[in-house]
Formats: sequence, structure tokens, C-alpha cells
Amino acid sequence: MKFWKKLSHPDINKKISRALRENVNFKNDTTLGIPASKLDGEVFYDSASFLKDAPILRTFVQNPNHIGCHTLGESEAFFAGTQALERELIDLLAFDVLKGEDDAFDGYVASGGTEANIQAIWMYRNYFRREYKATHEEIAIISSADSHYSMPKAGNILNLDWLEVPVEFKTREIIEEGLDNIVSKAIESGKKYFIVVANMATTMFGSVDDPDIYVDVMQKYNLDFKMHIDGAFGGFIYPISNPSSTVNFRNPHISSVTLDAHKMLQAPYGTGIFIARKNLMKYVFTEEAQYVSGMDITLSGSRSGANAIAVWMILFTYGPFGWLEKINKLLYRTTWLTNQLDDMGIRYFRDEKMNIVTVEAEFIPVEVVKKYGLVPQTHSGNNKWYKVVVMDHVELDDLEKFIVDLKSARQ
Ligand SMILES: Cc1ncc(COP(=O)(O)O)c(C=O)c1O
Repeated sequence: MKFWKKLSHPDINKKISRALRENVNFKNDTTLGIPASKLDGEVFYDSASFLKDAPILRTFVQNPNHIGCHTLGESEAFFAGTQALERELIDLLAFDVLKGEDDAFDGYVASGGTEANIQAIWMYRNYFRREYKATHEEIAIISSADSHYSMPKAGNILNLDWLEVPVEFKTREIIEEGLDNIVSKAIESGKKYFIVVANMATTMFGSVDDPDIYVDVMQKYNLDFKMHIDGAFGGFIYPISNPSSTVNFRNPHISSVTLDAHKMLQAPYGTGIFIARKNLMKYVFTEEAQYVSGMDITLSGSRSGANAIAVWMILFTYGPFGWLEKINKLLYRTTWLTNQLDDMGIRYFRDEKMNIVTVEAEFIPVEVVKKYGLVPQTHSGNNKWYKVVVMDHVELDDLEKFIVDLKSARQ
């Protein structure tokens, strides 16, 4: 680990305090030109004594705006202190978690996984348009049927077709023949450029796609493609639980990754993370953003610097070993659950490095679904699956109650 380590609370406090001092202080400094200020003191009392020991709350009150991307070019000088911590966060994730090379990535804290996925697809669409003079009709997004709906949403916004690749019912693996068929038909209908999105844990199943399945088919047809990994759910668990994984930047075909800190990392909402290899962000440079110092190359405009600090704080509070322990605790509980289901002869899907168990719907009576808030694959009839996500608050005690009720409801 180069960047990721555990820091004590006093050290974290000190680092954030220093960063805040390097930012503009709306209360004490004279700044006339920015359409922003600290949080309203009438409402968000900024002199409470507990703020001294709560660096994240002080950051919220001081209200830095991290508009833009701070890993390249210039940035708004008013918020240089906290932007530096966001940069450190991106370096840590690209290098220590996703196994990229040093200083070879750009990234920012987006509003969520949806934005980060759309940012990737926007970037690649523009890349194909600029470098290959591609038309919208010639570019397609391709991802599995288990992908998050942000892929068709991106298609809708960016005027691109989304091609849905079938997966095997039980294993949730991409059906290679199905992928081949879809790609060859797409070529016949005029598609030349492909934006591939592989999942590092799907929303419903926690299944992880093998990126090389896509690479093989793309290479078979000699196609130009760019590959993004949607790690919105799995990004903070799978690279840690499966250190031999190849779904990371060691794979030269993977150009960008989404990770969501507001899922597994329990960060506040508004902490999706987008990371891309250098020299790609330029394809989404908005030249018209003349009043912003530096380049506006993110889908969102203004965004809270406090969100980046929250993610930074969580990672440095745990450190890599603390986080590994936490992930292992969740995996232990998940395995406990699957052992119980095995004993009861109940069919389910689980990737053993993930904390999602998705049970075939026929095994779960509806009263148990309701009582335990299980999420169906679809709300519109013909649902075949329900999922249990073993998050931090889902303890063995809860799982044990679930199993007891499931047993009695099935008798
Ligand atoms: C795999 C995956 N991608 C993307 C998203 C979208 O994330 P957000 O809701 O943060 O926009 C989700 C959300 O559940 C997800 O599970």
C-alpha cells in the first residue's frame, strides 16, 4: 500500500483542519466574487463546541465547492486545501485498491454510481466521435442483462443504443454465444464502436462479470472498444475480498471504474467515485465553462467538498487492515446465511467474495419477504428472485431470526 494507511483521530483532525485553513474561509476572508458562502449560521450553528472534534461537520459548515476535477489542470484556488485531499483519495483508490500505476489516473467524487457510469459513457462516446468521426448510430453501449439501469439511462441521454447481453439463469455469467450473436448482429446493422460496461458486482446478484469475455469477442471481430467497470456496489469490497481479481487497472483493456462510497463504505449520499486513465477526461471538456478556473470536465457542476472529505476520512480511519477485517466480518455472516439455506435445500446465487445472497423466489413465502424487507428483482410480476444484502447493520442475530421465520413459514 502506498497511500492507504490507518491514521489516528487526532491526525485525521489535524490533516482536515490544515486543509480547511488552506481553503477560503468565508467568515474571516474578504471574498467578493464567489456566489457561495459558509452554511447559514442562523440555521447551522457554527460555534458549537463539539465542532472542534468533528472535522467532517466543520467541513460541511465551511462548505467547500469541489466543482471540476482536481487531478489535472488548474482548479479553483479557493478550495485548494480540501481538493488536495480529494486528489489523495483518487490516488489511493487507483493505485492501492484498483492496482493502477502511479500518477496515471484522473477522477472525482460524483453524485453517485449513476453519474459516474454516465460520465464514463459520455467520455467514450465523445472519444469515438472525435477520434474516429463516429456517428451516434455507429456507437453502442453493451453490458449484461443484470447491469444497473444507469446503462440504458446513459443510452437515452447520450442518444446511443444499449445492447443487453443475456446471462445464464443460475450462474449469472454472461452467455458467450449470446454476446457473440448480439455483437455480430450489431455489426450487420452498422455498429462499429462499442462502449463495454462490465460489472464488478451487479445490483441484484453481486455477480462479477469476466471482462475478458468481452475482450475476446471484441478482438474476434476486430472492433474498436473502450471498457468501463461498474463497481458501484462491489468497488469497496471485491478488490479487497479477492486480491487475485483481474477486474482492475492491471487489465490494460479497462479504462475507467465507478465505485460508490455511499454503499459499502457507509459514506453520506453524494459519494460516487469516477476514476479513469489519464488523457481520457479531455473528451468531456466543456469549453463554454469560462467562469470556472480550470477545466469543467465532470457531469455535475458544483459539488460538495465535504463529500470527498467524508470518504477520505472513512478510508483513513479504518486503514487497509481495518477495512479487510470489516469486509471479512460481512462475508462471514453471508456464508453463515448460505450454510443455513443449503441445510434447508433452498436455491440461491452468491459470489463467494460478495455479501449478497439472491434467493429463488419460489423458496420464500411472501410474508417473510415483507417482514424482512427483501428486494425483488422486479416489482412488475413474474419476479424470480429476492435478495438479502449483508450490510453492516445486518447481524447474525437478524439473519438467525430470518431463518427461523423462513423455516416456520415453509412448513
Ligand atoms: C451496480 C450499480 N451500479 C450503479 C448504481 C447506481 O448508483 P447510485 O444510486 O449511487 O446512482 C447502483 C445502485 O444500486 C448499482 O448497484
